[in-house]
Amino acid sequence: MTVVGDTTGTTLDRRAVISLIRRLRSPEGQSNPQPVWHQLRALGDVVPAPWGGYLATGYDVCNQVLRGRTWLAPDLAWQARQPNAERWQTPATQAISRALFRLNPPTHTQQRRSLGNAFDRTSLAALAPGVSAQAKRLVDELAERIRRDGEADFVTIVGDPLPVLTVGEWLGIPARHHAHVLDFTHRQVHSQELLPTKSELDVSAQATAEMREFFTGLIRERRAAPGNDVVSGWIRHWDEQFPDDPAAADETVYDLTMFITIASLENSATLLANAVWFLGQDADQWRWLRRHPEHVDGAIEEALRYDPPIHLNTRIAAEDTVLAGTPIAKDQMVHVMYGAAAHDPRRNENPERFDILRKGSHMTFGGGAHYCIGAALARLEARTLLTELLGRFETLRPVSAPTYAPRMVFRRVTSLKVST
Ligand code: HEM
Repeated sequence: MTVVGDTTGTTLDRRAVISLIRRLRSPEGQSNPQPVWHQLRALGDVVPAPWGGYLATGYDVCNQVLRGRTWLAPDLAWQARQPNAERWQTPATQAISRALFRLNPPTHTQQRRSLGNAFDRTSLAALAPGVSAQAKRLVDELAERIRRDGEADFVTIVGDPLPVLTVGEWLGIPARHHAHVLDFTHRQVHSQELLPTKSELDVSAQATAEMREFFTGLIRERRAAPGNDVVSGWIRHWDEQFPDDPAAADETVYDLTMFITIASLENSATLLANAVWFLGQDADQWRWLRRHPEHVDGAIEEALRYDPPIHLNTRIAAEDTVLAGTPIAKDQMVHVMYGAAAHDPRRNENPERFDILRKGSHMTFGGGAHYCIGAALARLEARTLLTELLGRFETLRPVSAPTYAPRMVFRRVTSLKVST
């Protein structure tokens, strides 16, 4: 049994943690979670969560949980063992739990293998011209709105549209559906949050029903007129795996298409808004990056580290274990805090400084078996857009601080007003 990190997490006051979690969920915590991450980390690498389970706060401990074999995703079998049925056995939670990120071997391994390296060099090269054309068009629109109104909302004009246009192009989702896809994605996400209320779960259930109808229709159309596109390829693959059960094939294609679509949207949009927010605040930094485009990738990595679009993720102990000196019983939850980990000063010096030359460490795309399949695509979108923005605007200043949806797991910037 490996033991990593500090062991102070065993003896602390749960009330201190409750108060920090409240702060994290408040508007102040949403706009600047760093002081709370810092205080949580000061309590220990492994901190008891007020609702049961634990928060992993240090870089090495988080890494160990993500990569260790004794940690599993909280799948449907685990959910069925939980006493809290109104949380874990609601339709929205159950539906999303059939998706890749909540699967464990052997089903996870089979589905993951079926995707191969979806965004290898060849696929990225095929997607790049489309991403570039869309980025140019959206930046034209941003420039025009700023010229006309003096300021414009980066999120609605550029940040939200670019990822849905990109994944729409890849999966063949017609543009007339993009607004609806974005909308149900925003509403569905509650069931993936840490402590959703009953009414949030109801909102999520409605969005789940709309998602079901939409993607089932898309797959039906693709079955009727198969082509050389990605979804038709998935249908062919899963038909071969389930030769006597086309319904099972359709279900798997549904789970993959639905989840890959929604997983690609908010996270990428948050990265784009964050990059503009962190870089645009300092006009000298923006101008410097214009003159040194070779550091655009470094700037994107620092934006990924500084404020990960997903703040935390959950694993459960597959067996009784010890994590950083804290005994953890089989089936208990551990929440891996990506943001707190990336701001661990033992890993990244002066973590509160946004430094595009840092070459820092982060686990913003996860790690281990569930490592993000879309990381290369997200980076391509960010690089293409940032290059376009830097080329177009001598400065791109945020007019005010961004606004955020009140969430703990999936970050969402709802608005970022910018001007030149
Ligand atoms: C900045 C953008 C993105 C961020 C920060 C991000 C982050 C993550 C993280 C942290 C995980 C691991 C989840 C876990 O361990 O349970 C993950 C998994 C995943 N991501 Fe992303 N993601 C991004 C963009 C994308 C894109 C563009 C796609 C698809 C086109 C995508 C598809 C997926 C899928 C399918 C999984 C599940 C993998 C598995 O469970 O095996 N993501 N992502």
